[in-house]
Amino acid sequence: MRSQGNPITWLTCYEYSFARALNETDLDMILVGDSGGMVALGYPDTTPVTMSEMILLTSSVRRGAPNKFIVGDMPKGSYEASDVDAVNNAMRFIKEAGCDAVKLEGGSSMANRAKAIANSGIPVVGHIGLTPQSSAAFGGYRVVGREPSEVENLRRSIQELEEAGVFAVLLEAIPPSVSKVLTKNATSIIFGIGAGKYTHGQLLILHDLLGLYPNFRPKFAKCFVPEVLMEFNDALVENEDLAAFGRDTRKDGLYQITRLAVEAYIRQVRSGSFPDELYSYRD
Ligand code: KIV
Repeated sequence: MRSQGNPITWLTCYEYSFARALNETDLDMILVGDSGGMVALGYPDTTPVTMSEMILLTSSVRRGAPNKFIVGDMPKGSYEASDVDAVNNAMRFIKEAGCDAVKLEGGSSMANRAKAIANSGIPVVGHIGLTPQSSAAFGGYRVVGREPSEVENLRRSIQELEEAGVFAVLLEAIPPSVSKVLTKNATSIIFGIGAGKYTHGQLLILHDLLGLYPNFRPKFAKCFVPEVLMEFNDALVENEDLAAFGRDTRKDGLYQITRLAVEAYIRQVRSGSFPDELYSYRD
């Protein structure tokens, strides 16, 4: 898809029923993010999330989405201390939760961990820019890449992660003009979340796309529900017997709204209309 210039669509998911809905769409990839610690488990941030919790969430997503490429997100504390920790925990995602790949936060400083995991035969995604697990050490949740030194760090991180063997790098909260240059010079697949429209693929948090997380919504997080409600309603009003419609089709509730909203996201990413300026940080 990268070589053909087809934008790749990626969404987070944390449990079975939503995964079923995603599995019925043409979505390319799923991330079981440690953001699940916040939106599904109710923690204030991702710091407390454990490997056991990630395995529980990820294995339920795998049961719901048997056909999707699933990336498991390594939680804080599961990979930093040693290569052995990193490989053992990455292997749990593969063997216990049926993942296809893992993601870990950190650029140059985590390149050795990424290398150890990649050398063990597990596909790895890097994650740089705003890295929520270590945001406290880097000045909180903020856009990264407005200073020349930050841009140079991002460039070097991508290069070192690629040399370590990652197949993709996720850029989070980066001005579009910066991610455009980084994407152009990369040899791996560059995904963005809050990084503008020039990356090879886009990631969004499912709960943001569905307007399901009331605590906080970053600028780049578009809720796709309002624009599909008309379509949902049109299907309902055509049916006099709503109870029978629901029983026969299961298209009368949140499952169907989820599918429609996710399909709208996929269409807009593929056509290049999402993310537009409204959902991108300023350069
Ligand atoms: O945990 C997650 O969902 C993530 C995204 C915020 C990029 O890592």
